[in-house]
Amino acid sequence: VRVAVIGGGQNCEHDVSLASATGIATALDPAYDVVRLTIERDGWWCRDGQRMTLPSAVAILRTCAVAIPALHGPRGEDGSLAALCELAGVRYVGSGVGAGALGMDKWATKLVASGIGIAVAPAVLLTTATAATYDFTHPVVVKPVAAGSSHGVTLVHEAGGLAVALKEAFDLDDRVLVEDVVVGREIDLAVLGRPDGTRLVAPALEVVVDGIFDHDTKYGGRADFRIPAGLAEEEREALEDAAVRTYDALGCAGVARVDFFLTAEGPVLNEVNTMPGFTEQSQVPKMFAAAGTSYADLLDLLVRDALA
Ligand code: DAL
Ligand code: MG
Repeated sequence: VRVAVIGGGQNCEHDVSLASATGIATALDPAYDVVRLTIERDGWWCRDGQRMTLPSAVAILRTCAVAIPALHGPRGEDGSLAALCELAGVRYVGSGVGAGALGMDKWATKLVASGIGIAVAPAVLLTTATAATYDFTHPVVVKPVAAGSSHGVTLVHEAGGLAVALKEAFDLDDRVLVEDVVVGREIDLAVLGRPDGTRLVAPALEVVVDGIFDHDTKYGGRADFRIPAGLAEEEREALEDAAVRTYDALGCAGVARVDFFLTAEGPVLNEVNTMPGFTEQSQVPKMFAAAGTSYADLLDLLVRDALA
């Protein structure tokens, strides 16, 4: 079976995506005939170091039984690559256009989650036109509406830090969220939707980090994952229920990682990743490995489900 593994992309998560794509391609080989395609930062598609036009890339995708869009961030995880596959008639692993777009948009994700009774951090949405009206009264987290891997995210303790934080976030998106700081344990849930409608939830993961789980702690090896997270039965049930309901409300497919803060009042949704980091050492593969499903078996399951 021929499988296209697409990595790279035109955003700040380019390198993280290449790492996911390399991990996936390596694990699928030699059980599958893997075709690696890379989207360069400037938008060119590339195979074996050869640049090609988009129609040529689509022609290659059409020779594959299924595509794995291992892209994180805008112009990839936001439904755009799913849309390309839909229009080209290529089957693909993971969420479709709508779920990708909603999950990439942290504001839309909040609205959907609040709509089904899931707690989210209160936030104000700012544009470049309204940013100057924001009145700083308490510590906040400033983040671009659509980005990933914590790029452009700043914890702001004092009014004096706001301007730089806003600039960094507006450098990545023209809409920015200013969120209340949520105090709680960081717990990630992985939800895998099967074609028959069943949902598998892997053992919850706790991010153990000194300070905030930002880009440096994420990729500098200074965060530890505890799997399964130490949870009381009712905490585990509340988290799993919120994760599955969020997955379904957004209309996700394949595997999604739903990230929460576990507070004294219960789970507060942080964000949803419809194409979460996918190296063997990333959260989702580690969570499934803790449940006895190896990295290669998880990928095999995703590919077979996409073909079902
Ligand atoms: N956005 C990064 C890749 C993650 O979800 O892990
Ligand atoms: Mg993310």
